Amino acid sequence: MVGHKIRLGVNIDHVATVRNARGGFYPDPVKAALVAQKAGADGITAHLREDRRHIKDDDIERLMAEISIPLNFEMAATEEMLTIATKHKPASSCIVPEKREELTTEGGLDVIGAYDHLKGYIAKLHEAGVSVSLFIDPDEKQIKASKELGADKIELHTGSYVDASDKDREYELERLRKGAAYSAEIGIEVHAGHGLNYETVEAVAAISEFTEFNIGHFLIGESIMVGLEKAIDQMRKLMDQGRG
Ligand code: PXP
Repeated sequence: MVGHKIRLGVNIDHVATVRNARGGFYPDPVKAALVAQKAGADGITAHLREDRRHIKDDDIERLMAEISIPLNFEMAATEEMLTIATKHKPASSCIVPEKREELTTEGGLDVIGAYDHLKGYIAKLHEAGVSVSLFIDPDEKQIKASKELGADKIELHTGSYVDASDKDREYELERLRKGAAYSAEIGIEVHAGHGLNYETVEAVAAISEFTEFNIGHFLIGESIMVGLEKAIDQMRKLMDQGRG
């Protein structure tokens, strides 16, 4: 049976990673966002990290000015990010835990541990008209606390499922199923993301309560695999043309 279509948010952080490897302007994550928009993405996700290792402040400014689909602004719950989010007013913000030494967002936010801080923080984002999502593990207590905090939605971290060994994969998928079902039961919109790829996306998409996926690293990596041949052809053509 075909259920409701799942929205796809394309995370363009790693276009900026490649750009920053040379310190210039190419490839431009905003241009990639426009390509994603043209290709049917429902939204663009960008994570402005404290250390600005990929997306930079200017990228957020340009994304807000140039894309017409919603921007999902991923951020840590810091004062600095609150100032930026309330200035730009993206359609939504996704609050994630952030550790300086991590390679990527390693686990969900501890909503229970940070309850008091998040309460005021979410209220300030709401005052600015920014919808709030909390990135959490598929844990009933964290989901319940997110709802009580007044978050508009949650995003369940799919990393444990994606990285699971064959032995644990069904267990991790079941945690996502239970988490998604519980979210729907208590009335909070539920999204999913992290590490999703061609091998793992279908099983997660079969969970009918999920309304949106945010996918980045795999899509940017795969675009090298499907695009490199075309880029080499063009380079060869220009080389041959130059030679006359
Ligand atoms: N959702 C959230 C909240 C994230 O932090 C990330 C990674 O930035 C993603 C989705 C996308 O994960 P990936 O790049 O592994 O597809």
